[in-house]
Amino acid sequence: MTRQIVSVVGGKDAASTGTYASINPARTSEIVAQVGLADAGTFADACRTAKDAQREWAKVPAPVRGRVIASIGRLVEANAESLARLVTREIGKPYAEALGEVREIVDTCDFFLGEGRRLYGQTVPSEMPDKNLFTFRNPVGVAAVITAGNFPVAVPSWYLVPALLCGNAVVWKPAEYAAASAHALYQIFVAAGLPDGVLDIVFADGAQTFEGLERALTEGTVQKIGFTGSSEVGSKIGELAGRHLQAPCLELGGKNPMVIMPDAELDLAVEGALFSGFGTAGQRCTSLGTVIVHESVHREFTERFARAVQQAEIGDPEQDVLAGPLLDQKFADRYEDYLTWIQPHHQVISGPVGRITADSPRRDFTGAGGLYYHPVVVDGVKASDRLFLEETFGPIVGVTTFASLDEAIELANLPGYGLSSSIYTTDPKHAFRFREGISAGMVSVNNSTSGAEAHLPFGGNGKSGNGSRQSGMWVLDQFTRWQSMNWDHSGRLQKAQMDVADISPDMGFRL
Ligand code: UN1
Repeated sequence: MTRQIVSVVGGKDAASTGTYASINPARTSEIVAQVGLADAGTFADACRTAKDAQREWAKVPAPVRGRVIASIGRLVEANAESLARLVTREIGKPYAEALGEVREIVDTCDFFLGEGRRLYGQTVPSEMPDKNLFTFRNPVGVAAVITAGNFPVAVPSWYLVPALLCGNAVVWKPAEYAAASAHALYQIFVAAGLPDGVLDIVFADGAQTFEGLERALTEGTVQKIGFTGSSEVGSKIGELAGRHLQAPCLELGGKNPMVIMPDAELDLAVEGALFSGFGTAGQRCTSLGTVIVHESVHREFTERFARAVQQAEIGDPEQDVLAGPLLDQKFADRYEDYLTWIQPHHQVISGPVGRITADSPRRDFTGAGGLYYHPVVVDGVKASDRLFLEETFGPIVGVTTFASLDEAIELANLPGYGLSSSIYTTDPKHAFRFREGISAGMVSVNNSTSGAEAHLPFGGNGKSGNGSRQSGMWVLDQFTRWQSMNWDHSGRLQKAQMDVADISPDMGFRL
């Protein structure tokens, strides 16, 4: 069944100026949804509508908003299987992973529903008598949230849930190729009782979205931008936001390293590298980029890793597989480009490279009708290679070697991203030294580079982001602004720094 979906602004369907077909990447002949695309004008309208709705929403007591978040969580739970099935159908994520993704929304709601009863401010002592100081968290206003489609429902919920809880309105622009999943999540949010206009969903291409966002910023109807996507687009969004004196929340790419020490448990490291590199077909922003393995265990590790990759199940995402197809044709095209970065000095140790077809099957799987690719491990990667320096979204992992931990850390930081990282070691000294030296926002010890839990700060540095953090209590600083208040009840004007009692010490005192 093909769904027909359009943008919804202020609770009403909005006009479309074009159509996009969202395709099942496991069976590209199947259209999951015909998506009406809106233009920049509709995006700007949505921001105006959201601005009006936000005023009333901010007046709803935070504990009551927390109850709405609780209802969203329960509704997501009650619809978990159908939402996960839709995610699998639309972006080819294996069903078990899609269910995990849906679980991440529930976890996020569970965390923030209680925040409705906290959202603490502070009482602070004043330097003068009969005066009280306070801090309050105020909502920022309207958040424009632009998200990628590799996590079409969980990652958006990291923005939507805290933003709404804090009393903001949200205009959400999901990825076109994941529009049906996004629309389904939008419906769940609305069913939880959000008033019209508090959450608006706009389907539009990148150019129209950018133009609409620019208009909204000029009109003063957007106070916060949340963006998950490529470093390239992220820097354009950052530039635009900066011109309007705003600090966006940017969650961008990664070239996530995994360091394997000579004291590592190699089987565990192989399992971690397999999931980090090829789970989700390598299409997480936290997916493994390069394995940096100590030269003394390089041979043993690569032999075991190559074997594990060769044996891994790639196939129909509705079955029990490690990975399904790539997300969408655009990603498949880009991935084929990354494959051209493999140079003569590299050794591909995983088997065939490229699309899985009848002529290049994976055991008896011919990939018929889907965007399936062989997982690729490239050994002999050098620090000056494109494969080492740039993100390669998709099922390809590089391997390089090191001699000392300091060298490993230097290599791990060299590409200039800084999202996730991992070290396999049995020595706590190595783990802590790595943590200290690595520029990444997230560090795993004896664990995958991917798979962060929903209540820790999530985010990166360098080319991976601007230091903003999502998830847990840290994201509250993205969606609220601190306001300080002082209240003088002395009945006279007490001037700060001037009318302050002075207690003089005897500075000449010595024992
Ligand atoms: C992403 O790919 O944008 O840590 C997010 C993880 C997931 C989220 C990935 N919980 O791998």
